Amino acid sequence: MNDEERERRLQIMKKKLHKELFEKESDKDQDSSFESKDKIKHVKSSSSLSTYLQSESASFIKMAKQVFKKKKKGEELTKEELAIYNKIQKKRKLDKTENSESRKLQKLNKTKKDNRYISSYASKPCISAEKVITDLSIYEEFGNPENKKVKQGRYETIKLLYPNGKYESYPLITPKKSNELDPIYDIYATTQMVIRYCVPLKYQKLFGDTKNGIIRSIIKARNRKNKEGLKKAITEYNKTLEFIINEKAFVNSEEFGDVSAPELVFHILEQAYTRTVAQKSEMLNLYRGFSNNVYGEVNSNLVTEFIKNSELKPHHIFIDMGSGIGNVVLQVASQVLCESWGVEIMEIPSTFAKAQCIEFISRMRYYGKPCGKIKLRHADFLEDPEVDRILKVADVVFVNNYAFDANLNQRILQKFLDLKENTRIISLKNFVPLDHKINYRNANSLESILRVKEYLFGHDSVSWTNEEGKYYIHRVDRSILQSFEKNMKANRVH
Ligand SMILES: C[S@@+](CC[C@H](N)C(=O)[O-])C[C@H]1O[C@@H](n2cnc3c(N)ncnc32)[C@H](O)[C@@H]1O
Repeated sequence: MNDEERERRLQIMKKKLHKELFEKESDKDQDSSFESKDKIKHVKSSSSLSTYLQSESASFIKMAKQVFKKKKKGEELTKEELAIYNKIQKKRKLDKTENSESRKLQKLNKTKKDNRYISSYASKPCISAEKVITDLSIYEEFGNPENKKVKQGRYETIKLLYPNGKYESYPLITPKKSNELDPIYDIYATTQMVIRYCVPLKYQKLFGDTKNGIIRSIIKARNRKNKEGLKKAITEYNKTLEFIINEKAFVNSEEFGDVSAPELVFHILEQAYTRTVAQKSEMLNLYRGFSNNVYGEVNSNLVTEFIKNSELKPHHIFIDMGSGIGNVVLQVASQVLCESWGVEIMEIPSTFAKAQCIEFISRMRYYGKPCGKIKLRHADFLEDPEVDRILKVADVVFVNNYAFDANLNQRILQKFLDLKENTRIISLKNFVPLDHKINYRNANSLESILRVKEYLFGHDSVSWTNEEGKYYIHRVDRSILQSFEKNMKANRVH
């Protein structure tokens, strides 16, 4: 493919991609920088009568309003009216207790010093497995020994309940190829994750274990490709989870609950990826090879290692310079609860990043889990003033610069001049030679304020090779330079 043809295809695809991913989004969400419309939403308390009547029938609402009018006027209520009045008052009382509890927790949360954030995207419905699977020719019916072709609208579905009380619809079909979205695996993995990482310990036994009960039934039905068995097991699962939801086990878990386990974050990232990027992922390879815009990813296990070795903490600010489809930014925000920024120059990965982020945030709420503040920018990190502002306050900077040329790496290094003391820079190529020593010739160079340490990563940690490799963590440390300058001065005086 020549450059002209590549550019033509890119333009067509960009238009198509935007239409496909965001056609259902309201205009108010179409913010080009993506981050500025994201607003904090606090837990609101509302005590108006209509709040308590939302789920009631029209005739009940009419009656209730009359009852409250009568009560206000001090008129006597009939037995039936009194029952209505008491029912609503009971709801109000319950809500009041919950809200005062929530306020207490909010206060407590302030002392926790993490950067959890309730984005407006959290209230969006997730993209269901049923909705995202459009090419049925690569699927077959689950548990059908004749392997009949799956026809549009003629397969069975299962509705799976999540801790936030919402359902996701799954078609009971399996892919013929292993790299496609497998609804049966997703159902299985989601139930495991919810039971292990979301359900409070005291309720977990209601689901049994691998030898007994609901967990066993789901595993058995999946292994034996038993459709009826799976439907029955999921009905039981939903009923049990509904009971736990009604016990208010997940109330406030997003605002005040513990951070997610890495395995749960990996699972949610995978779900968000399969719902938004997977089917169109070949578009990421349209960029010219051996350029600064070559797309490549570090995998979730390696990101967990970065988090640990860079000592990234919940009150910190993280930035991924060249964030691609945003995978690292999302993982860091949810696994650490810190403020997490990403900046990406290319339009296609940026568009994917936005779609992934919306889906990811929505899904974090489905599991009732907190997430840090996420800010994604479609910009050139060398030019964007917002990046300069963030670099001054960042605690950890990540640059996947494996494919960047020497000139770009040098320009990035210049950006590090304003980093605060002790900021860590994680990169795939080092910015400073491992044996760098300050002398009077290089004392003014940027390398002299960075200390660097080399780390090894294992097989299958990055998308561009299965081999092991190296990464680097630099630390801003001006003290070495300061003592060098002090020594120089002292030598000059004597
Ligand atoms: C190898 S990808 C890394 C994706 C992600 N950070 C990861 O490690 O999984 C590097 C990304 O940097 C982006 N990039 C290169 N130069 C950039 C610039 N000047 N400003 C913003 N992004 C840039 C590329 O377009 C590419 O998507």
